[in-house]
Amino acid sequence: MSAVRLGLLGFGVVGGGVVRVLTRNAHEINRRAGRDMEIVCIVARDLKKARASEWPTEKLTTDADRVLKDPSIEVVVELMGGIEPARSYVLAAIEAGKHVVTANKALIALHGNDIFAAARRRGVVVAFEAAVGGGIPIIKAIREGLAGNRIRALAGIINGTSNYILTQMRENGAEFADALREAQALGYAEADPTFDIDGIDAAHKLTILAAIAFGIPLRFESCHVEGIRNLESADIRYAQELGFRVKHLGIARRTAAGIELRAHPVLIPHKRLIANVDGVMNAVLVEGDAVGSTLFYGPGAGAEPTASAVVADIIDVVRTLTTDPQLRVPHLAFQPDALSEGPLLAMAEVETACYLRAEALDRPGVLADITRILADLGISIEAIQQRPPVGSSARVDVILLIHKIREAQVNQAIERIAALDSIVGPIRRLRVEMFD
Ligand code: NDP
Ligand code: HSE
Repeated sequence: MSAVRLGLLGFGVVGGGVVRVLTRNAHEINRRAGRDMEIVCIVARDLKKARASEWPTEKLTTDADRVLKDPSIEVVVELMGGIEPARSYVLAAIEAGKHVVTANKALIALHGNDIFAAARRRGVVVAFEAAVGGGIPIIKAIREGLAGNRIRALAGIINGTSNYILTQMRENGAEFADALREAQALGYAEADPTFDIDGIDAAHKLTILAAIAFGIPLRFESCHVEGIRNLESADIRYAQELGFRVKHLGIARRTAAGIELRAHPVLIPHKRLIANVDGVMNAVLVEGDAVGSTLFYGPGAGAEPTASAVVADIIDVVRTLTTDPQLRVPHLAFQPDALSEGPLLAMAEVETACYLRAEALDRPGVLADITRILADLGISIEAIQQRPPVGSSARVDVILLIHKIREAQVNQAIERIAALDSIVGPIRRLRVEMFD
């Protein structure tokens, strides 16, 4: 049987990894897919750039039409990133009847609903395993392996760059900027690293996970997003002393009032498995009514781990080339006409326990003022600590752990505490997830 002809859009970190894995494992891949694969052409921006993988110059081009308009190419692999021109190229490939494999979580989270609708009309597959969790086959696990469950919740360390930075800060006392630079050099970070450190990349991935877990359309705009940019090493240290680790999590949870969808830093008891996922590693905890709690762990970024997921998608697509489109696994796990618009919970309605840190002048009555505000708002305190002043400073850190309460009440408490004369600087808030 003739080889399946592939066209690659993008020859960067992931594109290079895909070329290497497809070449190195060609024999194993053929044994699995039943067909050889041939990369016909790769599209990039700069033909003079040094590449991490060898590739003949005559098969490298800046002209995307060499892939999109070549009728012999059956599968287009989009590894450019960003929204445009990736979106237009993916839609053009679909209109030309080509299957698409992409690692582009931003594109799927923001435009996936339209892309999947177009793919259904043309009877082609759009596969996106590499969009979440790097090398962890988490999309397949939720969409197929856990298909018998009603998923109750999922929570994941799904941004390798943030996890790498937090780990470096905690273990080695690294400065934020140095750790970010290292993550960029290692090929983990997005082209725009603010996506990583501001939580946007994790929110893209969470949007995708929530859709396939709960059977809801992709609703990125409803996700509450906070990153790690404003975390201070003092909070990482205090958290550790209190028996917690600081991690950036994407959390999606069904509650009676609606679905929570939030990506932000979290304190997790240090004994929990997920609290010990360090460096670029990712982990996604999925809780189903039948299976209970499951944890999927692996490298969340990098050339070959991501290529592992991309190549698995290519193999899947090749295996289904002759399958009736109606019989394929639905893009978003649930049949398209069975997606529900279930209510998403506003962040103000979400209930969590919290860690609060206030920088205060060291004078009588400060703790009493703070505890009075909390009592007035019906907020119960689990622990309160005043840290010793540093050197000759008249300022002290006051640390509070408060019990689970509606976010709206915590917001009010933060506002009132910040307005006290004795408080200097912003109140730091980190939500706590016990996972018990
Ligand atoms: P890179 O920036 O390393 O590579 C992007 C590639 O796309 C480059 O080859 C670039 O060309 C090419 N490109 C970009 N814009 C254009 C354009 N307008 N026309 C033609 N070519 C273009 O990105 P990554 O490989 O890191 O990421 C690719 C995708 O994979 C992204 O969606 C990313 O989010 C996703 N991803 C990345 C992971 C990682 O660990 N890096 C992990 C999981 C997903 P040139 O080389 O000439 O500049
Ligand atoms: N920038 C992403 C991360 C790449 O750091 O997790 C993997 O999606």
